[in-house]
Amino acid sequence: MRILITGSNGLLGQKIVKLCLERGLNFIATSKGINRNPDCPDNNYLSLDISNQLEINKIFQFYYPTHVIHTAAITNVDYCEDHIEECENVNVISTKLLADTSITYKAHFQLLSTDFVFDGEKGNYSEEDEVNPLSIYAKSKVNAEEIVINGKTDDWSIVRTIIVYGEGHNLSRSNIVLWAKEALKKGNELTIVDDQYRAPTWADDLAWGCLEIIVRNKKGIFHISGPETMSVIELVYRIADFYNLPKDKIQPVKSNTLNQAAVRPPKTGFNLDFSRKELNYEPLTLEKTLELLKK
Ligand SMILES: NC(=O)c1ccc[n+]([C@@H]2O[C@H](COP(=O)([O-])OP(=O)(O)OC[C@H]3O[C@@H](n4cnc5c(N)ncnc54)[C@H](OP(=O)(O)O)[C@@H]3O)[C@@H](O)[C@H]2O)c1
Repeated sequence: MRILITGSNGLLGQKIVKLCLERGLNFIATSKGINRNPDCPDNNYLSLDISNQLEINKIFQFYYPTHVIHTAAITNVDYCEDHIEECENVNVISTKLLADTSITYKAHFQLLSTDFVFDGEKGNYSEEDEVNPLSIYAKSKVNAEEIVINGKTDDWSIVRTIIVYGEGHNLSRSNIVLWAKEALKKGNELTIVDDQYRAPTWADDLAWGCLEIIVRNKKGIFHISGPETMSVIELVYRIADFYNLPKDKIQPVKSNTLNQAAVRPPKTGFNLDFSRKELNYEPLTLEKTLELLKK
Protein backbone atom coordinates (compact mmCIF):
# COMPACT_ATOMS: atom_id res chain seq x y z
CA MET A 1 0.00 0.00 0.00
CA ARG A 2 1.39 3.42 -1.03
CA ILE A 3 -0.74 6.38 0.08
CA LEU A 4 -0.56 9.81 -1.55
CA ILE A 5 -2.01 12.54 0.69
CA THR A 6 -2.95 15.96 -0.71
CA GLY A 7 -3.26 19.02 1.55
CA SER A 8 -0.83 17.65 4.15
CA ASN A 9 -0.23 21.12 5.62
CA GLY A 10 -3.94 21.32 6.51
CA LEU A 11 -5.51 20.11 9.76
CA LEU A 12 -6.82 16.79 8.46
CA GLY A 13 -3.74 16.20 6.29
CA GLN A 14 -1.52 16.56 9.36
CA LYS A 15 -3.59 14.03 11.34
CA ILE A 16 -3.48 11.51 8.47
CA VAL A 17 0.31 11.91 8.31
CA LYS A 18 0.52 11.33 12.08
CA LEU A 19 -1.57 8.18 11.85
CA CYS A 20 0.41 6.82 8.88
CA LEU A 21 3.62 7.29 10.89
CA GLU A 22 2.12 5.59 13.96
CA ARG A 23 0.87 2.64 11.91
CA GLY A 24 4.02 2.36 9.80
CA LEU A 25 2.08 2.90 6.56
CA ASN A 26 3.98 3.91 3.42
CA PHE A 27 2.94 7.44 2.39
CA ILE A 28 3.89 10.60 0.52
CA ALA A 29 2.52 13.84 1.95
CA THR A 30 1.95 16.72 -0.48
CA SER A 31 0.82 20.30 -0.18
CA LYS A 32 1.30 23.60 -1.99
CA GLY A 33 4.72 25.10 -1.17
CA ILE A 34 7.01 23.95 1.63
CA ASN A 35 6.31 21.34 4.31
CA ARG A 36 4.84 23.30 7.27
CA ASN A 37 4.22 20.21 9.39
CA PRO A 38 7.26 19.54 11.60
CA ASP A 39 5.89 16.05 12.39
CA CYS A 40 6.12 15.08 8.71
CA PRO A 41 9.66 13.95 7.79
CA ASP A 42 10.99 15.88 4.78
CA ASN A 43 11.75 12.51 3.11
CA ASN A 44 8.00 11.87 3.04
CA TYR A 45 7.10 15.27 1.61
CA LEU A 46 6.77 16.64 -1.93
CA SER A 47 5.37 19.98 -2.98
CA LEU A 48 2.23 19.64 -5.11
CA ASP A 49 -0.13 22.30 -6.40
CA ILE A 50 -3.15 20.15 -7.22
CA SER A 51 -4.20 22.48 -10.03
CA ASN A 52 -1.04 21.60 -11.99
CA GLN A 53 -1.38 18.42 -14.10
CA LEU A 54 2.37 18.28 -14.81
CA GLU A 55 3.17 18.26 -11.09
CA ILE A 56 0.52 15.57 -10.54
CA ASN A 57 2.02 13.43 -13.34
CA LYS A 58 5.52 13.78 -11.90
CA ILE A 59 4.43 12.58 -8.47
CA PHE A 60 2.42 9.63 -9.82
CA GLN A 61 5.36 8.61 -12.05
CA PHE A 62 7.72 8.83 -9.09
CA TYR A 63 5.58 7.22 -6.38
CA TYR A 64 2.98 5.01 -8.14
CA PRO A 65 0.39 5.46 -5.34
CA THR A 66 -2.11 2.67 -4.74
CA HIS A 67 -4.37 5.05 -2.78
CA VAL A 68 -4.94 8.81 -2.93
CA ILE A 69 -6.48 10.70 0.01
CA HIS A 70 -7.54 14.06 -1.38
CA THR A 71 -8.00 16.54 1.48
CA ALA A 72 -6.68 19.70 -0.26
CA ALA A 73 -9.36 22.30 -0.99
CA ILE A 74 -10.31 25.88 -0.49
CA THR A 75 -12.25 25.44 2.73
CA ASN A 76 -13.26 29.01 3.61
CA VAL A 77 -16.92 29.14 2.55
CA ASP A 78 -17.23 32.95 2.54
CA TYR A 79 -13.99 33.31 0.53
CA CYS A 80 -15.44 30.96 -2.10
CA GLU A 81 -18.49 33.24 -2.60
CA ASP A 82 -16.15 36.05 -3.70
CA HIS A 83 -13.59 33.87 -5.56
CA ILE A 84 -15.82 31.65 -7.65
CA GLU A 85 -13.25 30.82 -10.35
CA GLU A 86 -10.51 29.96 -7.85
CA CYS A 87 -12.93 27.76 -5.91
CA GLU A 88 -13.99 25.98 -9.13
CA ASN A 89 -10.36 25.52 -10.15
CA VAL A 90 -9.10 24.09 -6.84
CA ASN A 91 -12.16 22.24 -5.57
CA VAL A 92 -13.61 20.90 -8.82
CA ILE A 93 -11.19 20.96 -11.77
CA SER A 94 -8.22 19.85 -9.66
CA THR A 95 -10.30 17.00 -8.22
CA LYS A 96 -10.96 15.87 -11.80
CA LEU A 97 -7.24 15.98 -12.61
CA LEU A 98 -6.40 13.89 -9.55
CA ALA A 99 -9.33 11.49 -9.95
CA ASP A 100 -8.56 10.88 -13.65
CA THR A 101 -4.87 10.36 -12.96
CA SER A 102 -5.79 7.92 -10.19
CA ILE A 103 -7.89 5.94 -12.69
CA THR A 104 -4.94 5.84 -15.12
CA TYR A 105 -2.67 4.50 -12.35
CA LYS A 106 -5.40 2.20 -10.94
CA ALA A 107 -5.20 3.91 -7.55
CA HIS A 108 -8.15 4.12 -5.16
CA PHE A 109 -9.31 7.77 -5.01
CA GLN A 110 -10.73 9.19 -1.77
CA LEU A 111 -12.35 12.65 -1.79
CA LEU A 112 -13.06 14.70 1.33
CA SER A 113 -16.46 16.38 1.22
CA THR A 114 -18.83 18.19 3.54
CA ASP A 115 -22.20 18.30 5.31
CA PHE A 116 -22.78 21.53 3.33
CA VAL A 117 -23.79 19.38 0.31
CA PHE A 118 -27.17 19.25 2.14
CA ASP A 119 -29.61 22.15 2.56
CA GLY A 120 -29.91 21.60 6.33
CA GLU A 121 -33.72 21.32 6.42
CA LYS A 122 -33.81 17.68 7.59
CA GLY A 123 -30.72 17.05 9.74
CA ASN A 124 -29.28 13.66 10.78
CA TYR A 125 -28.29 12.98 7.17
CA SER A 126 -27.58 9.49 5.80
CA GLU A 127 -25.31 8.74 2.87
CA GLU A 128 -28.35 8.20 0.58
CA ASP A 129 -30.04 11.54 1.35
CA GLU A 130 -30.43 13.93 -1.53
CA VAL A 131 -27.92 16.78 -1.83
CA ASN A 132 -29.03 20.40 -2.28
CA PRO A 133 -26.09 22.79 -1.90
CA LEU A 134 -26.73 26.40 -0.83
CA SER A 135 -23.34 28.08 -1.45
CA ILE A 136 -20.52 28.24 -4.00
CA TYR A 137 -18.28 26.10 -1.74
CA ALA A 138 -21.06 23.55 -1.24
CA LYS A 139 -21.78 23.41 -5.00
CA SER A 140 -18.07 22.92 -5.69
CA LYS A 141 -18.04 19.89 -3.38
CA VAL A 142 -21.19 18.44 -4.99
CA ASN A 143 -19.58 18.88 -8.41
CA ALA A 144 -16.38 17.23 -7.15
CA GLU A 145 -18.42 14.33 -5.73
CA GLU A 146 -20.19 13.90 -9.09
CA ILE A 147 -16.85 13.71 -10.92
CA VAL A 148 -15.77 10.90 -8.61
CA ILE A 149 -19.11 9.04 -8.66
CA ASN A 150 -19.47 9.26 -12.45
CA GLY A 151 -15.86 8.28 -13.19
CA LYS A 152 -14.91 5.13 -15.13
CA THR A 153 -14.28 3.07 -12.00
CA ASP A 154 -15.94 2.13 -8.72
CA ASP A 155 -12.61 2.23 -6.88
CA TRP A 156 -13.36 5.38 -4.94
CA SER A 157 -14.63 6.66 -1.62
CA ILE A 158 -16.13 9.95 -0.53
CA VAL A 159 -15.83 11.01 3.10
CA ARG A 160 -18.25 13.73 4.17
CA THR A 161 -17.52 15.47 7.42
CA ILE A 162 -18.66 18.39 9.62
CA ILE A 163 -16.77 21.26 11.33
CA VAL A 164 -13.41 19.69 11.98
CA TYR A 165 -11.42 20.71 15.05
CA GLY A 166 -8.12 19.91 16.73
CA GLU A 167 -4.61 21.25 17.01
CA GLY A 168 -2.10 21.40 14.16
CA HIS A 169 1.15 23.12 13.22
CA ASN A 170 1.30 26.38 11.22
CA LEU A 171 -2.27 26.04 9.96
CA SER A 172 -3.52 28.70 7.55
CA ARG A 173 -6.94 28.56 9.34
CA SER A 174 -8.02 28.12 12.94
CA ASN A 175 -11.13 26.16 13.92
CA ILE A 176 -14.12 26.98 16.09
CA VAL A 177 -13.03 25.03 19.17
CA LEU A 178 -9.53 26.57 19.37
CA TRP A 179 -10.89 30.00 18.48
CA ALA A 180 -13.68 29.89 21.11
CA LYS A 181 -11.31 28.57 23.79
CA GLU A 182 -8.83 31.41 23.19
CA ALA A 183 -11.51 34.10 22.94
CA LEU A 184 -13.20 32.91 26.18
CA LYS A 185 -9.84 32.83 27.99
CA LYS A 186 -9.14 36.43 26.91
CA GLY A 187 -12.62 37.48 28.10
CA ASN A 188 -13.62 38.66 24.61
CA GLU A 189 -17.25 39.20 23.58
CA LEU A 190 -18.39 36.29 21.38
CA THR A 191 -21.29 36.54 18.97
CA ILE A 192 -22.48 33.01 18.28
CA VAL A 193 -25.35 31.68 16.19
CA ASP A 194 -28.02 29.73 18.05
CA ASP A 195 -29.92 28.56 14.96
CA GLN A 196 -27.30 26.36 13.27
CA TYR A 197 -26.82 22.75 14.35
CA ARG A 198 -23.69 20.70 13.68
CA ALA A 199 -21.85 17.57 14.82
CA PRO A 200 -18.31 18.86 15.45
CA THR A 201 -15.66 16.37 14.41
CA TRP A 202 -12.36 15.62 16.18
CA ALA A 203 -9.75 15.69 13.40
CA ASP A 204 -8.03 12.55 14.75
CA ASP A 205 -11.30 10.57 14.54
CA LEU A 206 -11.79 11.76 10.97
CA ALA A 207 -8.23 10.80 9.99
CA TRP A 208 -8.83 7.36 11.52
CA GLY A 209 -12.02 6.96 9.46
CA CYS A 210 -10.30 8.00 6.22
CA LEU A 211 -7.50 5.47 6.70
CA GLU A 212 -9.82 2.72 7.90
CA ILE A 213 -11.82 2.92 4.66
CA ILE A 214 -8.62 2.32 2.75
CA VAL A 215 -7.18 -0.36 5.01
CA ARG A 216 -10.49 -2.28 4.91
CA ASN A 217 -10.71 -1.82 1.14
CA LYS A 218 -14.14 -0.16 1.36
CA LYS A 219 -15.79 1.89 -1.37
CA GLY A 220 -18.64 4.41 -1.62
CA ILE A 221 -19.86 7.35 0.45
CA PHE A 222 -19.18 7.53 4.20
CA HIS A 223 -20.44 10.02 6.77
CA ILE A 224 -17.74 10.63 9.39
CA SER A 225 -18.46 13.20 12.12
CA GLY A 226 -18.55 13.63 15.88
CA PRO A 227 -21.22 11.60 17.74
CA GLU A 228 -23.46 14.49 18.84
CA THR A 229 -25.35 17.16 16.93
CA MET A 230 -25.69 20.42 18.87
CA SER A 231 -26.32 24.08 18.20
CA VAL A 232 -23.16 26.11 17.62
CA ILE A 233 -23.90 28.11 20.76
CA GLU A 234 -24.25 24.91 22.81
CA LEU A 235 -20.82 23.91 21.52
CA VAL A 236 -19.34 27.18 22.79
CA TYR A 237 -21.17 26.92 26.14
CA ARG A 238 -19.78 23.41 26.61
CA ILE A 239 -16.25 24.62 25.84
CA ALA A 240 -16.70 27.39 28.44
CA ASP A 241 -18.03 24.86 30.99
CA PHE A 242 -15.14 22.48 30.36
CA TYR A 243 -12.51 25.17 30.96
CA ASN A 244 -14.50 26.76 33.81
CA LEU A 245 -14.71 30.04 31.93
CA PRO A 246 -17.58 32.56 32.31
CA LYS A 247 -20.38 32.42 29.74
CA ASP A 248 -21.74 35.93 30.18
CA LYS A 249 -19.78 37.30 27.20
CA ILE A 250 -21.38 34.79 24.80
CA GLN A 251 -24.10 36.61 22.83
CA PRO A 252 -26.63 34.48 20.91
CA VAL A 253 -27.52 35.75 17.42
CA LYS A 254 -29.54 34.57 14.46
CA SER A 255 -27.70 33.61 11.26
CA ASN A 256 -29.56 36.16 9.13
CA THR A 257 -28.22 39.07 11.22
CA LEU A 258 -24.56 38.21 10.53
CA ASN A 259 -24.32 39.33 6.91
CA GLN A 260 -22.04 36.44 5.96
CA ALA A 261 -21.33 36.01 2.25
CA ALA A 262 -22.25 32.30 2.14
CA VAL A 263 -25.60 30.83 3.18
CA ARG A 264 -25.15 27.99 5.69
CA PRO A 265 -27.52 25.03 6.10
CA PRO A 266 -29.44 25.43 9.38
CA LYS A 267 -29.30 21.85 10.64
CA THR A 268 -26.91 19.13 9.51
CA GLY A 269 -25.51 16.30 11.65
CA PHE A 270 -25.01 12.76 10.35
CA ASN A 271 -26.53 9.37 10.84
CA LEU A 272 -23.33 7.36 11.52
CA ASP A 273 -24.88 3.86 11.33
CA PHE A 274 -23.14 2.92 8.07
CA SER A 275 -19.67 4.02 9.23
CA ARG A 276 -20.19 2.29 12.58
CA LYS A 277 -21.17 -0.93 10.82
CA GLU A 278 -18.57 -0.90 8.03
CA LEU A 279 -15.61 0.60 9.90
CA ASN A 280 -16.39 0.13 13.61
CA TYR A 281 -16.19 3.92 13.70
CA GLU A 282 -16.70 5.15 17.28
CA PRO A 283 -16.00 8.88 17.64
CA LEU A 284 -15.11 10.51 20.97
CA THR A 285 -17.46 12.88 22.79
CA LEU A 286 -16.69 16.61 22.79
CA GLU A 287 -15.60 16.58 26.43
CA LYS A 288 -13.29 13.59 25.91
CA THR A 289 -11.56 15.41 23.05
CA LEU A 290 -11.27 18.61 25.11
CA GLU A 291 -9.45 16.53 27.74
CA LEU A 292 -7.04 15.35 25.05
CA LEU A 293 -6.55 18.96 23.84
CA LYS A 294 -5.77 20.01 27.43
CA LYS A 295 -2.92 17.49 27.59
N1 LIG B 1 -12.51 22.06 8.23
C1 LIG B 1 -13.79 21.75 8.23
O1 LIG B 1 -14.54 22.19 9.12
C2 LIG B 1 -14.36 20.88 7.15
C3 LIG B 1 -15.74 20.57 7.17
C4 LIG B 1 -16.26 19.77 6.15
C5 LIG B 1 -15.42 19.29 5.15
N2 LIG B 1 -14.09 19.62 5.16
C6 LIG B 1 -13.23 19.12 4.06
O2 LIG B 1 -12.19 18.35 4.62
C7 LIG B 1 -10.98 18.55 3.88
C8 LIG B 1 -9.85 18.89 4.83
O3 LIG B 1 -10.17 20.05 5.59
P1 LIG B 1 -9.12 20.74 6.56
O4 LIG B 1 -9.86 21.18 7.77
O5 LIG B 1 -7.91 19.89 6.73
O6 LIG B 1 -8.81 22.04 5.69
P2 LIG B 1 -7.53 23.00 5.71
O7 LIG B 1 -6.90 22.96 7.06
O8 LIG B 1 -7.99 24.29 5.14
O9 LIG B 1 -6.55 22.27 4.70
C9 LIG B 1 -6.70 22.32 3.31
C10 LIG B 1 -5.32 22.32 2.72
O10 LIG B 1 -5.41 22.37 1.30
C11 LIG B 1 -4.31 23.11 0.84
N3 LIG B 1 -4.49 23.62 -0.51
C12 LIG B 1 -5.31 24.63 -0.93
N4 LIG B 1 -5.15 24.83 -2.25
C13 LIG B 1 -4.22 23.93 -2.67
C14 LIG B 1 -3.62 23.65 -3.93
N5 LIG B 1 -3.95 24.32 -5.05
N6 LIG B 1 -2.69 22.67 -3.99
C15 LIG B 1 -2.35 21.96 -2.89
N7 LIG B 1 -2.87 22.19 -1.67
C16 LIG B 1 -3.80 23.18 -1.56
C17 LIG B 1 -4.20 24.25 1.86
O11 LIG B 1 -2.91 24.82 1.77
P3 LIG B 1 -2.47 26.09 2.67
O12 LIG B 1 -2.44 25.58 4.08
O13 LIG B 1 -1.13 26.40 2.14
O14 LIG B 1 -3.52 27.13 2.45
C18 LIG B 1 -4.48 23.52 3.16
O15 LIG B 1 -3.28 23.07 3.76
C19 LIG B 1 -11.30 19.62 2.85
O16 LIG B 1 -11.48 19.00 1.60
C20 LIG B 1 -12.57 20.27 3.33
O17 LIG B 1 -13.36 20.76 2.26
C21 LIG B 1 -13.55 20.38 6.15
